Amino acid sequence: MFSVENLPVLNSILNATSAILVLVGYRFIKIGRREVHRACMIGACCVSSLFLISYLTYHYYHGSERFQGQGWSRIIYFAILISHTILAAGVVPLVITTMVRGLKGNYVEHKKIAKWTFPIWLYVSSTGVIIYFMLYQIFRIQ
Ligand code: HEM
Repeated sequence: MFSVENLPVLNSILNATSAILVLVGYRFIKIGRREVHRACMIGACCVSSLFLISYLTYHYYHGSERFQGQGWSRIIYFAILISHTILAAGVVPLVITTMVRGLKGNYVEHKKIAKWTFPIWLYVSSTGVIIYFMLYQIFRIQ
């Protein structure tokens, strides 16, 4: 049975999917495939929105989870977590602005902001997956 306790694994799948879509979308604009670039980026936005809903639902019902690793792993974990959290908040307006400029056909301005949105979005979604593994799999006792 699917329960709130299964949401972290769903969240990490959604994060990995959006990272892949952002990366693939980037490759497609590099070879001039505008329509596929557009589709991948819209797809990544939808997947990231689903992630946000699922993430908030999990934390509403479950609260926060304590990291159980010790020593160096704590320093690495919190460095990733803090950078991930700060950039995750910042990437939302960046994605919205990049998307609006792309959809309106304002490509010169789109490209200017997209060069920031692309790596930050990729960092946020891929570190989301790393955080999941560190918190729920690798360093979990019991
Ligand atoms: C938030 C979502 C998006 C991101 C992160 C993004 C990312 C990028 C990046 C990084 C580039 C520059 C590639 C390079 O270095 O040459 C680019 C270019 C471009 N994007 Fe997007 N994109 C997004 C959404 C869209 C959408 C919805 C469209 C709609 C058609 C679009 C159309 C284009 C076009 C036409 C270019 C080429 C601009 C040019 O070279 O003059 N993008 N995008």
